[in-house]
Amino acid sequence: MEAAALGHFVSGLDKATKVIIASNRQPWFHERVAERIRAFRPASGLVTALEPIIEAVGGTWIAHGSAPADRLVVDRKNRVRLPEDNPRFTLRRLWLTPKEEEGYYNGISNRALWPLCHLVYTKPRFSRSDWETYRDVNRRFSDAVLEEAGNSPAIVFTQDFHLALLPRFLREARPDLKLIQFWHIPWPNREAFRIFPWSGEILDGLLGNDLLGFHIQNHCNNFLDTVDKSMEAKVDYENFSVWRGGRPTFIRPFPISVDFRQIGIDAGLETVQAKKEGFLAQLGPSAAGTKICVGADRVDYTKGIPERLRGFDLLLRRNPDLKGKVTLMQLAAPSRTQIEEYRSINDEIEGLVEEINRRHGSEAWRPVHFLRANHDYHAVIAAYRMADVVLVTSLHDGMNLVAKEFIAARTDGDGVLLLSQYTGAARELTDALLVNPYDTDQLADAMLQAFRMPEEERRQRMARMRAQVEKNNIYEWGRKIFEELLRRVSFGKGRDAAGKSPRPHPAAGRKHPYLAVVKYLTYRCSSAILGKVNSRLPGGPA
Ligand code: F6P
Repeated sequence: MEAAALGHFVSGLDKATKVIIASNRQPWFHERVAERIRAFRPASGLVTALEPIIEAVGGTWIAHGSAPADRLVVDRKNRVRLPEDNPRFTLRRLWLTPKEEEGYYNGISNRALWPLCHLVYTKPRFSRSDWETYRDVNRRFSDAVLEEAGNSPAIVFTQDFHLALLPRFLREARPDLKLIQFWHIPWPNREAFRIFPWSGEILDGLLGNDLLGFHIQNHCNNFLDTVDKSMEAKVDYENFSVWRGGRPTFIRPFPISVDFRQIGIDAGLETVQAKKEGFLAQLGPSAAGTKICVGADRVDYTKGIPERLRGFDLLLRRNPDLKGKVTLMQLAAPSRTQIEEYRSINDEIEGLVEEINRRHGSEAWRPVHFLRANHDYHAVIAAYRMADVVLVTSLHDGMNLVAKEFIAARTDGDGVLLLSQYTGAARELTDALLVNPYDTDQLADAMLQAFRMPEEERRQRMARMRAQVEKNNIYEWGRKIFEELLRRVSFGKGRDAAGKSPRPHPAAGRKHPYLAVVKYLTYRCSSAILGKVNSRLPGGPA
């Protein structure tokens, strides 16, 4: 499925229904550059995935306005139309006080839930006052969603662990809303989860949804088991649902993805070529002609950056003949720097880079280039295009979209992906070199295997991975989620101020709604895709 087809599909659900996305991170932030205010996209897998969806379906995205110039571009209702050059959706910004940001974002979201769910030996920290702030901020998001929904029927698509209480607040205020939530990080086993002091409230909040999505089946299983063993609710393992307060919540895996086609088109842009030349200039003449390994991550202890560096160090120690023939370029977006663990992982990485460069480097050659900055989308695509090998070594990751973006960018069909087996992406991308990032020897071996892989094998593996990401692209992800909602809840009962009942979806009320949706989609897809392909033909993908 492609963008236009998803847009038609969702609007076809019911013309009167609003689509509202709620997340902490906003899809665009505004900053002053010289005398101008410019919009930028943050480093976030969630944004990479959801932005094409909101553009396809239109509607409103509610998020925390956290950048310096954000207030300068909104209207009186805190709204701004985006993207700037071709507005297709509304961003409604919600402002948080420093205290709210500290308790809700740094505190419960990133010091408690993030390490709790990722199980990477970083202890979660809990504070009752942070929890109260988290609850208050979720309430503020609920007020904003209700205001945006007005009296119309609406589908509210909540994102991630920052907003676990939002669905329950919405359900209490508007039982008729259609509520979906996607949890972008892993869900741990129940033994791990039960140390969260307010676990009952989190689970109750999530069970306010009609549909709750995780990346993989294993996270769904962990969630059901957590609910089953810790609260009053009926868990139906046959239908993968939980009944609480007389309503079901369906739990489903939806492996998230990227806009495969668009990334392929963008990879051929001149801007990308210019960024590539910029990187080559930055690496210097000694990198020219070497094999280039690329890492592109937020600086986060879950991403396994020190482990990757140790693997690279071991590779050079074991294979001195590789000195001067390989270069590791690590793009590193600063992240969550208010939190001590994030500052110390950054220091650890810088220390390791220095050590490796001292141990193996020479006047003429620097093995590791650590480029700490917020690299924009085109720069990241350029880095993927330069790479002989991309390194994704997360210690635990819900999906990891760097892996999929890299594959989408490689329209030339070459390049090797070295991928941690502890990412959701490893379930789909079995043609990557799968590694255990905790095993330094294995990492070094896999890097060597990547460098030595014959071109034919590289191309075969890449072709199979490209076929997979093309098939399960971001619009397919969106289609599956909205289609599942359609199967599970009845439409047409919205609270319409004018007293009119919303137009039912063509499939509603029929004996086999699924079949009708598929027919409808087939019709919409063919015309929409043809339209989009035709409009893009002159420039064409690279
Ligand atoms: O994908 C998980 C996630 O926490 C998203 O919710 C978030 O946007 C992204 O990682 C980046 O983190 P942050 O928004 O805290 O910078």
